[in-house]
Amino acid sequence: MKIEVWQGDITTLAVDAIVNAANESLLGGGGVDGAIHRAAGPQLLDACRALPEIRPGMRCPTGEVRQTPAFNLPAKHVFHTVGPVWQDGLRDEPALLANCYWKSLQLAEKLDVESIAFPAISCGVFGYPLHQAAHIAATETLTWQRSHRQPRRIILVAYNAATFKAYQSALAALGQPVEPSTSAIFAPLALGLPPAAAH
Ligand code: APR
Repeated sequence: MKIEVWQGDITTLAVDAIVNAANESLLGGGGVDGAIHRAAGPQLLDACRALPEIRPGMRCPTGEVRQTPAFNLPAKHVFHTVGPVWQDGLRDEPALLANCYWKSLQLAEKLDVESIAFPAISCGVFGYPLHQAAHIAATETLTWQRSHRQPRRIILVAYNAATFKAYQSALAALGQPVEPSTSAIFAPLALGLPPAAAH
Protein backbone atom coordinates (compact mmCIF):
# COMPACT_ATOMS: atom_id res chain seq x y z
CA MET A 1 0.00 0.00 0.00
CA LYS A 2 0.98 3.60 -0.52
CA ILE A 3 0.32 6.78 1.41
CA GLU A 4 -2.24 8.73 -0.65
CA VAL A 5 -2.24 12.48 -1.15
CA TRP A 6 -5.46 14.28 -2.09
CA GLN A 7 -6.27 17.97 -2.45
CA GLY A 8 -9.65 19.18 -1.22
CA ASP A 9 -12.00 19.55 1.73
CA ILE A 10 -11.49 16.75 4.29
CA THR A 11 -15.14 17.02 5.44
CA THR A 12 -16.31 15.54 2.11
CA LEU A 13 -14.37 12.28 2.43
CA ALA A 14 -16.27 9.04 2.99
CA VAL A 15 -13.48 7.44 5.01
CA ASP A 16 -13.75 5.62 8.35
CA ALA A 17 -11.98 8.39 10.28
CA ILE A 18 -11.04 11.98 9.62
CA VAL A 19 -8.54 13.68 11.89
CA ASN A 20 -9.32 17.14 13.24
CA ALA A 21 -6.58 19.69 13.99
CA ALA A 22 -8.17 20.89 17.22
CA ASN A 23 -7.12 22.83 20.32
CA GLU A 24 -6.85 21.51 23.86
CA SER A 25 -10.38 22.58 24.81
CA LEU A 26 -11.92 20.52 21.96
CA LEU A 27 -14.64 23.19 21.78
CA GLY A 28 -14.09 24.08 18.12
CA GLY A 29 -12.32 26.91 16.39
CA GLY A 30 -11.49 28.09 12.88
CA GLY A 31 -9.69 26.36 10.02
CA VAL A 32 -10.29 22.66 9.59
CA ASP A 33 -11.70 22.47 13.16
CA GLY A 34 -14.40 24.95 12.21
CA ALA A 35 -15.11 23.19 8.91
CA ILE A 36 -15.48 19.80 10.62
CA HIS A 37 -17.81 21.16 13.30
CA ARG A 38 -19.95 22.96 10.71
CA ALA A 39 -20.24 19.87 8.54
CA ALA A 40 -20.79 17.45 11.44
CA GLY A 41 -23.48 19.57 13.06
CA PRO A 42 -24.02 20.67 16.67
CA GLN A 43 -23.96 17.13 18.06
CA LEU A 44 -20.20 17.10 17.52
CA LEU A 45 -19.71 19.94 19.99
CA ASP A 46 -22.00 18.16 22.47
CA ALA A 47 -19.90 15.01 22.12
CA CYS A 48 -16.67 16.98 22.64
CA ARG A 49 -18.13 18.75 25.70
CA ALA A 50 -18.97 15.30 27.13
CA LEU A 51 -15.30 14.27 27.01
CA PRO A 52 -13.68 14.57 30.45
CA GLU A 53 -11.49 17.59 31.21
CA ILE A 54 -8.09 16.54 32.52
CA ARG A 55 -7.79 20.03 33.89
CA PRO A 56 -9.99 23.11 33.54
CA GLY A 57 -10.33 23.94 29.84
CA MET A 58 -8.22 20.98 28.64
CA ARG A 59 -9.81 17.81 27.21
CA CYS A 60 -6.90 16.79 24.98
CA PRO A 61 -3.25 17.70 25.65
CA THR A 62 -1.01 18.62 22.72
CA GLY A 63 0.19 15.50 20.91
CA GLU A 64 -2.72 13.38 22.15
CA VAL A 65 -5.94 12.28 20.42
CA ARG A 66 -9.60 11.80 21.36
CA GLN A 67 -12.38 10.06 19.39
CA THR A 68 -16.00 11.11 18.77
CA PRO A 69 -18.66 10.01 16.26
CA ALA A 70 -18.77 12.04 13.05
CA PHE A 71 -22.56 12.69 13.03
CA ASN A 72 -23.54 14.43 9.75
CA LEU A 73 -20.13 13.90 8.13
CA PRO A 74 -19.71 11.04 5.58
CA ALA A 75 -16.94 9.67 7.84
CA LYS A 76 -17.70 7.40 10.82
CA HIS A 77 -15.30 8.85 13.39
CA VAL A 78 -13.57 12.14 14.10
CA PHE A 79 -10.17 11.82 15.79
CA HIS A 80 -9.46 15.14 17.48
CA THR A 81 -5.76 15.74 17.87
CA VAL A 82 -3.92 18.85 19.03
CA GLY A 83 -0.79 19.82 17.17
CA PRO A 84 1.99 21.95 18.67
CA VAL A 85 2.07 25.71 18.19
CA TRP A 86 5.29 26.42 16.29
CA GLN A 87 7.74 28.54 18.31
CA ASP A 88 11.32 27.80 17.30
CA GLY A 89 11.48 24.04 16.88
CA LEU A 90 13.34 23.66 20.16
CA ARG A 91 10.28 23.16 22.38
CA ASP A 92 9.54 19.55 21.39
CA GLU A 93 7.37 20.65 18.45
CA PRO A 94 8.64 17.88 16.10
CA ALA A 95 8.03 15.11 18.65
CA LEU A 96 4.61 16.46 19.58
CA LEU A 97 3.57 16.71 15.92
CA ALA A 98 4.85 13.19 15.27
CA ASN A 99 2.75 11.98 18.21
CA CYS A 100 -0.39 13.46 16.65
CA TYR A 101 0.06 11.15 13.64
CA TRP A 102 1.34 8.11 15.53
CA LYS A 103 -1.32 8.18 18.29
CA SER A 104 -4.08 8.74 15.72
CA LEU A 105 -2.84 5.66 13.82
CA GLN A 106 -2.69 3.64 17.07
CA LEU A 107 -6.30 4.65 17.80
CA ALA A 108 -7.29 3.73 14.22
CA GLU A 109 -5.75 0.27 14.63
CA LYS A 110 -7.51 -0.19 18.00
CA LEU A 111 -10.91 0.73 16.46
CA ASP A 112 -10.24 -1.41 13.37
CA VAL A 113 -10.45 1.64 11.12
CA GLU A 114 -9.73 0.79 7.47
CA SER A 115 -9.21 4.31 6.11
CA ILE A 116 -8.06 7.53 7.75
CA ALA A 117 -7.53 11.05 6.42
CA PHE A 118 -5.26 13.66 8.00
CA PRO A 119 -5.25 17.44 7.44
CA ALA A 120 -1.91 19.23 7.58
CA ILE A 121 -1.87 19.42 11.39
CA SER A 122 -0.39 22.65 12.84
CA CYS A 123 0.28 24.13 9.36
CA GLY A 124 -2.38 26.84 9.64
CA VAL A 125 -3.05 28.95 12.74
CA PHE A 126 -0.37 27.06 14.68
CA GLY A 127 2.26 28.19 12.18
CA TYR A 128 4.31 25.04 11.71
CA PRO A 129 6.68 25.40 8.71
CA LEU A 130 5.01 23.44 5.91
CA HIS A 131 7.95 21.42 4.62
CA GLN A 132 9.07 20.37 8.10
CA ALA A 133 5.52 19.34 8.97
CA ALA A 134 5.12 17.48 5.67
CA HIS A 135 8.33 15.56 6.37
CA ILE A 136 6.99 14.50 9.79
CA ALA A 137 3.59 13.52 8.34
CA ALA A 138 5.26 11.45 5.59
CA THR A 139 7.76 9.84 7.98
CA GLU A 140 5.19 8.83 10.60
CA THR A 141 2.61 7.50 8.16
CA LEU A 142 5.11 5.61 5.99
CA THR A 143 6.83 4.11 9.05
CA TRP A 144 3.47 3.02 10.43
CA GLN A 145 2.25 1.55 7.14
CA ARG A 146 5.48 -0.42 6.64
CA SER A 147 4.93 -2.25 9.96
CA HIS A 148 1.13 -2.42 10.39
CA ARG A 149 -1.83 -3.79 8.39
CA GLN A 150 -4.47 -1.33 9.68
CA PRO A 151 -5.49 1.26 8.70
CA ARG A 152 -5.13 -0.02 5.14
CA ARG A 153 -5.62 3.43 3.59
CA ILE A 154 -3.85 6.52 4.90
CA ILE A 155 -4.63 9.79 3.12
CA LEU A 156 -2.80 13.08 3.59
CA VAL A 157 -5.24 15.86 2.68
CA ALA A 158 -3.87 19.09 1.24
CA TYR A 159 -6.18 22.10 1.24
CA ASN A 160 -4.02 23.94 -1.27
CA ALA A 161 -1.49 23.24 -4.02
CA ALA A 162 1.52 24.23 -1.91
CA THR A 163 0.63 21.61 0.70
CA PHE A 164 -0.04 19.00 -1.99
CA LYS A 165 3.43 19.62 -3.47
CA ALA A 166 5.05 19.56 -0.01
CA TYR A 167 3.52 16.13 0.68
CA GLN A 168 4.56 14.84 -2.74
CA SER A 169 8.18 15.87 -2.27
CA ALA A 170 8.32 14.66 1.34
CA LEU A 171 7.05 11.21 0.32
CA ALA A 172 9.31 11.08 -2.74
CA ALA A 173 12.32 11.93 -0.54
CA LEU A 174 11.39 8.90 1.59
CA GLY A 175 11.23 6.65 -1.46
CA GLN A 176 7.50 6.72 -2.18
CA PRO A 177 6.46 8.55 -5.38
CA VAL A 178 2.82 9.67 -5.19
CA GLU A 179 0.08 9.10 -7.75
CA PRO A 180 -3.07 11.24 -7.37
CA SER A 181 -5.80 9.30 -5.57
CA THR A 182 -8.69 8.31 -7.83
CA SER A 183 -10.55 5.72 -5.75
CA ALA A 184 -14.22 5.61 -4.80
CA ILE A 185 -14.05 7.89 -1.80
CA PHE A 186 -12.99 10.64 -4.19
CA ALA A 187 -15.62 9.63 -6.76
CA PRO A 188 -17.75 12.78 -6.34
CA LEU A 189 -14.79 14.88 -7.33
CA ALA A 190 -13.69 12.48 -10.02
CA LEU A 191 -17.19 12.71 -11.53
CA GLY A 192 -16.84 16.46 -11.49
CA LEU A 193 -19.65 16.77 -8.94
CA PRO A 194 -19.17 19.35 -6.20
CA PRO A 195 -18.55 17.44 -2.95
CA ALA A 196 -21.81 18.61 -1.37
CA ALA A 197 -23.89 17.13 -4.20
CA ALA A 198 -22.39 13.72 -3.63
CA HIS A 199 -24.16 12.81 -0.37
N1 APR B 1 -10.08 20.41 4.71
C1 APR B 1 -8.75 20.07 4.75
N2 APR B 1 -7.79 20.89 5.25
C2 APR B 1 -8.19 22.10 5.71
C3 APR B 1 -9.55 22.51 5.71
C4 APR B 1 -10.50 21.61 5.17
N3 APR B 1 -11.82 21.91 5.12
N4 APR B 1 -9.61 23.78 6.24
C5 APR B 1 -8.35 24.13 6.54
N5 APR B 1 -7.49 23.15 6.22
C6 APR B 1 -6.03 23.09 6.36
C7 APR B 1 -5.32 24.40 6.45
O1 APR B 1 -5.17 24.97 5.16
C8 APR B 1 -3.99 23.94 7.04
O2 APR B 1 -3.14 23.44 6.01
O3 APR B 1 -5.73 22.46 7.59
C9 APR B 1 -4.39 22.77 7.95
C10 APR B 1 -4.35 23.08 9.44
O4 APR B 1 -4.71 24.44 9.66
P1 APR B 1 -5.66 24.86 10.88
O5 APR B 1 -7.02 24.38 10.64
O6 APR B 1 -5.45 26.33 11.10
O7 APR B 1 -5.08 24.04 12.15
P2 APR B 1 -3.77 24.26 13.02
O8 APR B 1 -2.72 25.02 12.32
O9 APR B 1 -3.46 22.89 13.57
O10 APR B 1 -4.30 25.20 14.21
C11 APR B 1 -5.22 24.65 15.12
O11 APR B 1 -6.74 26.43 14.81
O12 APR B 1 -8.90 26.24 14.12
C12 APR B 1 -8.11 26.36 15.21
O13 APR B 1 -9.34 25.23 16.94
C13 APR B 1 -8.19 25.16 16.12
O14 APR B 1 -7.02 26.28 17.88
C14 APR B 1 -6.89 25.30 16.86
C15 APR B 1 -5.94 25.79 15.79
